[in-house]
Amino acid sequence: MATARIGVIVVSDRASRGEYADEGGPAAREYLEQRITSPVEVKVRLVPDERPAIEAALCEMADAGFALVVTTGGTGPAPRDVTPEATEAVCDRMLPGFGEAMRAVSLRSVPTAVLSRQTAGHRGGCLIVNLPGRPGAIAECLDAVWGAIPYGIELAGGPRIEAEGAFRPRGR
Ligand code: MTE
Repeated sequence: MATARIGVIVVSDRASRGEYADEGGPAAREYLEQRITSPVEVKVRLVPDERPAIEAALCEMADAGFALVVTTGGTGPAPRDVTPEATEAVCDRMLPGFGEAMRAVSLRSVPTAVLSRQTAGHRGGCLIVNLPGRPGAIAECLDAVWGAIPYGIELAGGPRIEAEGAFRPRGR
């Protein structure tokens, strides 16, 4: 089975300047490496909260054949939060159910989850999913949508990924 490449893009002004050690990227990497049972390579990149930088990183990974790219951070309503705009700008088609599911689950633990503008979409055969920046929220949000991620990648023409908790319709 070919090795699937997965990208984690950490969107943070301070982490990209080296002002603090990012914890969201490692949390996302750990989640992915624990759940995926087929060969996988996870690459983490740090970018500032700037649309051109986020869009360039997303396009670079998606167009190089990455199966999945998750972003962390930049999804709130603060003026510099532009990750959802960058995601929409580079995707061919949006999957609004991802943001809805993640907000619904997060709202059970924190009322400010309603401030999240997280979304997801496909760029070619690559699935792009926004996650919040808080390290503690990453597994919670991924848990809310993880079941659909491997099949969602495959439906768009990406590679087959075997993973714990992956849902596939019968016979697939
Ligand atoms: N989701 C979970 N599960 N836990 C959280 O603490 N924080 C919320 C929301 N979603 C949060 C959450 C807040 S306060 C904001 S502003 C948005 O995510 C966006 O966060 P981000 O800018 O770090 O992406």
